[in-house]
Parts: sequence; structure tokens; C-alpha cells
Amino acid sequence: MAVNSFFGKSYISIDQIRNRGQVEWLFKVADKMKLKVEKREVYEPLKGYSVAVLFYQPSTRTFTSFVAAAKRLGAYVTSVHGMEQFSSVTKGETLEDTIRSIYQTTAADVIVIRHPENNSSLVASEVSPVPIINAGSGKQEHPTQALLDLYTIYHYQGTMDNLRVVMVGDLLYGRTIKSLAKLLAVVSKKTKLTLVAPDELAAPAELVKALKKKLTVVETNQLSEAVIKNADVVYMTRVQKEWFEAAGKMDEYERLKDNFILTRHMVSKMKKLAMVMHPLPRVGEILREVDEDGRAKYFEEMRSGLYVRMALLESILIK
Ligand code: NCD
Repeated sequence: MAVNSFFGKSYISIDQIRNRGQVEWLFKVADKMKLKVEKREVYEPLKGYSVAVLFYQPSTRTFTSFVAAAKRLGAYVTSVHGMEQFSSVTKGETLEDTIRSIYQTTAADVIVIRHPENNSSLVASEVSPVPIINAGSGKQEHPTQALLDLYTIYHYQGTMDNLRVVMVGDLLYGRTIKSLAKLLAVVSKKTKLTLVAPDELAAPAELVKALKKKLTVVETNQLSEAVIKNADVVYMTRVQKEWFEAAGKMDEYERLKDNFILTRHMVSKMKKLAMVMHPLPRVGEILREVDEDGRAKYFEEMRSGLYVRMALLESILIK
């Protein structure tokens, strides 16, 4: 029997997901949230609770869906975008002190954070008196995105097992694919993962090694017809420009950014019930012409974010 393993805890890494039961629990709660949203039902179990949402990196979907999720559940919400620009971090304040401050000033019951450092959520959780939710940390983790991605896959494929998943693009700097791949490795049986990246942007070797213990993993630098025609999921990602900028490697970015472009013609070769996914934002890697194909699921994928984040907030705060 699945139980709520999220109550009272921070959710900072996909490594906290130990078995499928934890995910099934959360997806049931997400299904409940979906029904309530679709019926426009007023459901406010978090009335009186305080949720703080702090973003130190740009975001459209993750930020708005966390804020919308917390508000729909009735919480008091304090949300700050542009922390890196407008908070006391510009005066030299540490992340630890900021977390302590936000807890005090907002009487937060949970703090959601996105930050460019890999260990930011961990550091925050060490000083925070209340649970931390990682909304994206550095190049390493995006554990709520992985849950919403899997929720979307489960919804359309009706299973978590026996899937052929193709992950394409920047597998070195992108955090969404790392979290989703690790999640699949824990919950999915008999799944085959094909990792498609230019050699310079291949997934870190230690990650691939760990994935291979649980999944069949194939690596290639070609997005060929053979790769996509048997896929159940083709998960595209953008080349992460900001990390090239920070490293002064914009020439390399320009050279790599258009390596893989998914066209309508390519999608037409996929199975009828296959899905094209993308955490978004897309830059040029999925042509607009793909949007009209029924296999394009990247817009619906975003709505899953609202349901899954509502489920997570409720599961962490209410027993
Ligand atoms: C992703 C991220 O921030 O890692 N976006 C998102 O949360 N949906 C993907 C990206 O920025 O490429």
C-alpha cells in the first residue's frame, strides 16, 4: 500500500524517490487535484499556511505553476522572482541567511527555491526550519519537473514500464533529463533509454553508469529515423545557452545549438501513440510545424506541473 512519504520533508533530489509506491501515491493526489481544477472546485486545505517561492534564475512555467498551485490550495503566498538582482544577495548576503530571513518574515511553512548552484537546495534545507522544495538547482536537479514529466507519460502511455524513451539535446548541462532519467531508473521496469547528444554535450559518464544498472541505455550523437521510429517518448531539450555564456564559450554554443531539430516530417515517422515532450522553453529544436501533430504533448505537459505541484505542496504540509 502506498503511503505519503513526503509529509514534513524537504524534496530536494530525485534520489529521495526510492520506490514506485511513492510516485503512485503522489500521482493519485495529482489526479484528485486535476479533477478539482477542471471542476473549478474551491479546495483550500492550505488555508492559513504560508508558502514562499524564491527564484534566483529565470522561469516561466515552474514559477507560475508553483504560485498558482499554492494559491489554489488557499495558502498565503510570498513569491519573489529575480532574487539574484533584487534581494540582499547583491549586498553579499549568503543563501543560508536569506533562507533564515524569509522563514521569519513570511512565517513560511514551506520554501520553494530555484538557484544556479547545484547544492543550493541542500544548503537551504540544512538551515531551514521548514521543508524546502527544489524548483531547479544548477545543472544537476529538477525533481518536480521529473515528476510532472512522468505524470504526463503515465497519463498518455498508461504505464511506466517497457517504454522506449529518447532524450535529445544538451544532456551535459540540462537538469531536466538527469532528474527524469534517474526517476525512470527507480520506478520503471524494462525501459530502454536512448541518449542523443553531440559528443561535447553527452550525459556525464557517472550518470550513464548509474542508469545502466537499472535500464538499457544506448548513447548516440545522431537523431536518426531508426532512433525515433520505435520511440514511445522523444524528449527534446534546448542547448543551455546560459552556461556557455558564463564560461565565455559562445562560439561553441553557436556551433552546437542547432544540432538536432525535430521537424514534422521526422515526427510523421514516429508511432501513432508516441509523444514529443520538452520541458520548455524551446529555442529552435522543435519546429512550430510540429505543434499541430497530435503527438506533440509539450503544451499539455505544462498543465501536469500545476497538478503535480499542488499534490506535492499538500502532501508535504498535510498528513
Ligand atoms: C527547464 C529548466 O529550468 O531547467 N525549464 C523548466 O523548468 N521547464 C529547462 C530549460 O530551461 O531548458
